[in-house]
Amino acid sequence: MSRRFVAPTKEPIVTRPDRIVTIERHVLNMQLQHPEARGDLSKLLYDIALTGKLISREVNKAGLVDILGETGTVNVHGEQVQKLDEFANQCFMRTFERGGQLCVMASEEEDDPIRIPEDLDVGGYVLLFDPLDGSSNIDANVSVGSIWSIYRRVTPSGHGTLKDLLQRGCEQVAAGYVAYGSSTMLVYSTGAGVSGFTLDPGIGEFLLSHPRIEIPKKGKIYSCNEGYRNLFFDSTRRFVEYLQEVDPDSGRPYSGRYIGSMVADVHRTLMYGGIFMYPATQKAPSGKLRLMYEANPMGYIIEQAGGMASTGKERILDLQPTELHQRVPLYMGSEEDVKLAIEFETGLR
Ligand code: AHG
Ligand code: MN
Ligand code: MN
Repeated sequence: MSRRFVAPTKEPIVTRPDRIVTIERHVLNMQLQHPEARGDLSKLLYDIALTGKLISREVNKAGLVDILGETGTVNVHGEQVQKLDEFANQCFMRTFERGGQLCVMASEEEDDPIRIPEDLDVGGYVLLFDPLDGSSNIDANVSVGSIWSIYRRVTPSGHGTLKDLLQRGCEQVAAGYVAYGSSTMLVYSTGAGVSGFTLDPGIGEFLLSHPRIEIPKKGKIYSCNEGYRNLFFDSTRRFVEYLQEVDPDSGRPYSGRYIGSMVADVHRTLMYGGIFMYPATQKAPSGKLRLMYEANPMGYIIEQAGGMASTGKERILDLQPTELHQRVPLYMGSEEDVKLAIEFETGLR
């Protein structure tokens, strides 16, 4: 009887699997729990894994080929588009347009909805994605990631429209991210908890490494860009100062950790607990991060792992979107830490 490998760390509460499970087998097992499923969502998740492998390969050799640096173009957000941004964007679009499961897509790097080419089949799902998150860090070899969000279509047939894209985050049927860091990890949920897979580049398979990720109820790390401290609203500044006060009973002060790649900062928060925040500031009253392909998918994962995701005043997944690239202030992570942030941001403290 093989000895079960007990995770050396106390948190998060995961147990390493004692048998090899590929992501394809995991997805199929999830599908088999739904006899009515036709396999379309499974095919989408297989293609997420394929896209993650393709992008991981380029990210991990970025310094060796002419794919670092900027394309010289600017996206809808006024940001310099990195060559890897465009490579990852093309990877997503080329992989998913021909699968036949989608009626429309949307990307951080495309101003408008992405129409499925006329000669290809459309399907019953919708995909929104941030093809490469944290890309301004890529030249410094800092962890980056891809974020994705899947909904069922709401229009009856034909090519999808904005109506199919602008759904509330609570309607997501699957979401997740691929983190290109010291290893490449794919983390996803279809609404029954969060599972993590680590890419074994030797065999090109994502293997189940974190069967059930649960975020600690309270953490000891806060994560925000304090360079904007003088632009924070008073409530936000007081919250951060509160976390920095020494209080041995409550485990304060918290440690500050900020990588500047949302996928890396949220993944650390998911694994260790604490709070990741990108608040509203006097210069950017809606914050910086985008609702549809950053806040909603990452908020879905955090909630599925037992945490909370808030604007500081309301649940992110309840927001009714009005624009494809709209921004939203966000506080996400351990339940007790996000609740504390809400107390400060709503004036209760
Ligand atoms: P992207 O590279 O997709 O544009 O996302 C960058 C985002 C996010 O990854 C990160 O949390 C945030 O930008 C960092 O912003 P600041 O540099 O303003 O802190
Ligand atoms: Mn991003
Ligand atoms: Mn991006």
